[in-house]
This record gives sequence, C-alpha cells and structure tokens, in this order.
Amino acid sequence: MRAAAFTELIGPDGVSLIEQSDPEPGPGEATVDVDACAINRHDLWILEGDSAMVDTDDLPFVSGLDVAGTVAAAGEGADVEPGDRVVLCPNETCGTCRFCREGPENQCERFSLFHGGLAETARVRADRLVSLPDGVDTATASALPTAYMTAYRMLQRAQVGPGDLVFVPGATGGVGVASVQLAAVLGARTVGTSSSAAKLDRLADLSLDHAVQGTDPDELRDAVGAVGTPDAVLNHLGGAYTELGLTLMRRGGRMVVCGRTAGGRSEIDVPDLFLGHKRVIGSTMGTQGDLETLVELVAAGDLDPEVEATYPLAATGDAFAAMQDREAVGKILVTN
Ligand SMILES: NC(=O)c1ccc[n+]([C@@H]2O[C@H](COP(=O)([O-])OP(=O)(O)OC[C@H]3O[C@@H](n4cnc5c(N)ncnc54)[C@H](OP(=O)(O)O)[C@@H]3O)[C@@H](O)[C@H]2O)c1
Ligand SMILES: [Zn+2]
Repeated sequence: MRAAAFTELIGPDGVSLIEQSDPEPGPGEATVDVDACAINRHDLWILEGDSAMVDTDDLPFVSGLDVAGTVAAAGEGADVEPGDRVVLCPNETCGTCRFCREGPENQCERFSLFHGGLAETARVRADRLVSLPDGVDTATASALPTAYMTAYRMLQRAQVGPGDLVFVPGATGGVGVASVQLAAVLGARTVGTSSSAAKLDRLADLSLDHAVQGTDPDELRDAVGAVGTPDAVLNHLGGAYTELGLTLMRRGGRMVVCGRTAGGRSEIDVPDLFLGHKRVIGSTMGTQGDLETLVELVAAGDLDPEVEATYPLAATGDAFAAMQDREAVGKILVTN
C-alpha cells in the first residue's frame, strides 16, 4: 500500500509517497481502508521538526490522526466486521491509571495519540472505532476527531451554556471553527478573530456572531471589548492571546487553553486573575464518548463540520502547504 510519509523534517517539501507492506490486524486490532484523513497543526509541527515526539531517527514517519473509512479486516477478538463504516478516536490510553478507570480517559497519565492515517490502509485498535450511521459520510466524519473533540471538551470545561459570550481568538482554523460551531450548538454567542477579513466573511455562514479582524493585541482588546465581556475564552493560540483573553473576560470567567500556535509562553496579570476570580484550564483532546456525541450531532443535522479543501494522498505536501500558508477556513482533508 501507499503512504504519504514524512521523509525529511523540512516542512511540506518533506512529504513523499512511499510503498509499505499491507498491514495485518493483530489481536484486538482492525485494518481500515482510509477514505479520508484530516490533517492538524500537530502533524505540521512534526513535519517542520518542531515536535519532541519525532526526530530524524524516526523517519520515514507516517502521521495522520483523524481516520475515517471502511473496516478491511478484523483481528482476533475485534468487535468490528469487514465493511463497517467507521471513524477512529485517535486517543491511545493505558487502560489502568486513575483517569482510565474513573474518567475522563483523555486525562490518562500515559496519554498518546494514534499516527498512521496518511496512508491507503491503517492498522488501529478496534475498540477505538466509532461506527458511522447512514447519512454521515466518511469525509465529514474525518473532520471530527481532533479538532471537534478538542473544542467540544473545551466548551464543557468552560461550562459554556445558553446565552454565554465565548471569545475564540483565531476563529478560522480547525479548532477555531469547531469552537464557533459547537458554541452555537450549545446556544452561546461567539466573537472570533483572524488576520484575514476574507476568511472572517466566510464565518458568518458558520454561525460566528461577531468578527474582529486584526493581530495587534491592543486593537483586539478594544474591538472585542466593544462587542461585550466574554464569559469564556477558548484559547488554542497561547502567546499574547492568553493575557488578552484574561483581561477581556468577566469576573469568574473561564479560559480553556489547548494550544500554542502564537507562542508557548504567556504573561498573566496575576492581581487581575485573583481579584477577578478567573480560571485558566488546560485541556487536551476529548473522550471517545465526546466523539460519539459529535457523530450523533452530525447525524441529527445539528452540526455540519466545515471542510475547506480535499487533497489526494499524492498531494499531501500541498495540503500541509495550505495549512502553513494559513489559507484554510476549517479542516483540510487528505483522501484516497
Ligand atoms: N491539546 C490538544 O488536544 C489540541 C488538539 C487540537 C489542536 N490543538 C492545538 O490548537 C492549535 C490549533 O490547531 P488547528 O489544527 O486548529 O490549527 P489550524 O487549523 O492551522 O489553525 C489555524 C488558526 O490559527 C491561526 N494562526 C495561525 N498562525 C498564527 C499565528 N502565528 N498567530 C496567530 N494566529 C495564528 C489562524 O489565524 P488566521 O485566520 O489569522 O490565519 C487560524 O485561525 C494548535 O496550537 C494545536 O496544536 C491542541
Ligand atoms: Zn491511563
């Protein structure tokens, strides 16, 4: 089978199609013929050599978390059948720690992620497969795992409810659009930012209530503040956006942080934090139950994940170039 492997950690030019032997499922495993695999900034960082997880000794490396397709073969004890249409929950958990026993599983002490979806076939743990109802196609389903699970869990952690105002810095990307769409599903209002007015225009149709174009923190503080006082901030950018969000949000407000695109270090106004009874909460991914909920929302017509573009496996490098160039609104998929 063919795989789009990272053969050099130099950015999009480091992706090559390679031939690999067809995977066979072991006990508890299944092989999935991949219809679509969404890409994430996590993969791009690996490809750019900006991840502690993969270095040149690990090459070629096949990334790709968000697999959707059809079960090709089931190993011994696997509770799936060839022909089942499925989406993978990419969580890899130990099954024995306190969080695996008592939940939530995404806080597992030995948490890691599946990689290997940027290929024609993926070998996965069968109990991580969520079956797809009629009416949820595999391309749509592949958009859900990483971005939508993460945003969904962040909204839960921020206790967002009807009527709340949610601030989403960087509202145009995978997690950003997911945050906006899922906040609307919960009955909340959103204010989101982007460097691009053209991309923000497209978010009006994706239920963003207030769009603020800009990158300068002082200008953003005034413009977002003019919209209202956020009850919650979903922060996947880090950097200067952490202090911006904390300054803007109301007394007792909640900020959930899942990323560092704009920087891995942030300053916090400590007196504002404690005098304002504000909370900063770290969060990573979501649970398989969250993914099942998301599939149900799509099946019910309550959620329509936004897919910007679809690239064939042979053009996986171009998909990463589009992400690097900040062209996309929503998700980018690689398809077979
Ligand atoms: N912890 C977790 O479980 C988890 C899960 C998923 C994602 N994440 C993290 O969340 C972040 C977003 O991931 P993603 O896959 O959604 O990425 P993505 O689709 O590439 O995100 C694009 C968004 O980021 C903004 N952006 C890009 N570079 C920026 C910069 N230098 N300064 C400010 N804004 C910038 C873009 O704004 P413009 O519109 O201005 O271009 C756009 O809104 C990443 O840090 C990722 O690692 C974490
Ligand atoms: Zn565990």
